Amino acid sequence: MVSTTIKIDATQADLSDPLRAYRDRFELPEGVIYLDGNSLGALPKSVRQRVAKTIAEEWGEQLIRSWNTADWVHLPQRVGEKIARLIGAEERTVVAADSTSINLFKVLSAALDLNQQRRKIVSERDNFPTDLYIAEGVAKQIGKGHRLVLADTPKDLPDMLDEDVAVLMLTHVNYRNGYRHDMAALTRAAHDKGILVIWDLAHTAGAMPVDLAGAQADFAIGCGYKYLNGGPGAPAFLYVNPRHQGGFRQPLSGWFGHRAPFDFDAAYSPSSSIEQYLCGTPPVLAMVAMDEAMSLWVDVDMEAVRAKSIGLCDFFIQEVGEFAEELGLTLVTPRDPGLRGSQVSYSCDNGYAIMQALIARGVIGDFRAPDIIRFGMTPLYLSFAEVAQAAAILKDILVTRAWDQPEYKVRGAVT
Ligand SMILES: Cc1ncc(COP(=O)(O)O)c(C=O)c1O
Repeated sequence: MVSTTIKIDATQADLSDPLRAYRDRFELPEGVIYLDGNSLGALPKSVRQRVAKTIAEEWGEQLIRSWNTADWVHLPQRVGEKIARLIGAEERTVVAADSTSINLFKVLSAALDLNQQRRKIVSERDNFPTDLYIAEGVAKQIGKGHRLVLADTPKDLPDMLDEDVAVLMLTHVNYRNGYRHDMAALTRAAHDKGILVIWDLAHTAGAMPVDLAGAQADFAIGCGYKYLNGGPGAPAFLYVNPRHQGGFRQPLSGWFGHRAPFDFDAAYSPSSSIEQYLCGTPPVLAMVAMDEAMSLWVDVDMEAVRAKSIGLCDFFIQEVGEFAEELGLTLVTPRDPGLRGSQVSYSCDNGYAIMQALIARGVIGDFRAPDIIRFGMTPLYLSFAEVAQAAAILKDILVTRAWDQPEYKVRGAVT
């Protein structure tokens, strides 16, 4: 489906928005239009209370008893089950743990172990760097001549899937330009050649429905702090298809992955289920925040999320399209909703300074080197009116060259 050219009426779209009520469940500062929920999701109001209660009562009063009385010990599984619903995963196939990078280390090591005769890991040059770095590290660690082979464009991928490829490792929605792969088709093409597939769902989970089980994906990983709103540095998640559980060992063999951690055996005996992918003691406060953030999703209709995400992106592209070319912005996100996630990106000169000037005016997006300004669309707490306003402020900053100030050119450590 290609984007419609019919002009969207922001007021009408907001009035008929079935997700309108969710906005009230988030804390968003006055005067801010938040277009960066694809990087750090907004704070759900109930998280503040839940974490405060956990600190005061569960930690402060119950102390160590809370591992049992508040069931802290099963937070990774409980949070995992809530995430599973959003990503179309079977029961007991998802846990929340560690970071996305660490989870990739675990599942990639496992996948290469399952496909031992083969030596290639195929990915994309434009994949998120941590994925590529972890793959390089895993290949080196194994020390058997594994190598990472990178596609320059998504179109090159099918031809690269040959008999020596062990694993196809892709990010479903590209972090820079928002391009979205066809998960089902690529997974099928890989399986036809005996290749296992790992999907990074960092820019997918909470942004659109996914069907990992339907696609028969082998493994998946993703972040808790983006569209899922789990908080800065929130625990990540990982998925392992039931057919691969118990068949091999992931290398981070910590005690939480043991079949019976509190037997305190000297020898490691892995759990045969998804718990094997846990490593050490979960960070309880962060897990509690993540658990509460995930409670908000329990009754969310993901089809409605996707429909609104398409609407918000189309609308922003339409509004910015009226001045983009003339003012030096090039749309790098596909116009076809079927080929994109929930963000809109432009390449431009002076992108960093433009983004800083936008942030100074209350429109928060981000910049990705070398020349991309990114706007994330989060259907649970963003309105069409805000998107219209953000586009108007962007235009004003470009027309007046408000970005051309020394203070907007000083790079922070995080862009
Ligand atoms: C696709 C993708 N994978 C992984 C990460 C980050 O992983 P981690 O949480 O381990 O820093 C990001 C961060 O933005 C990302 O966009």
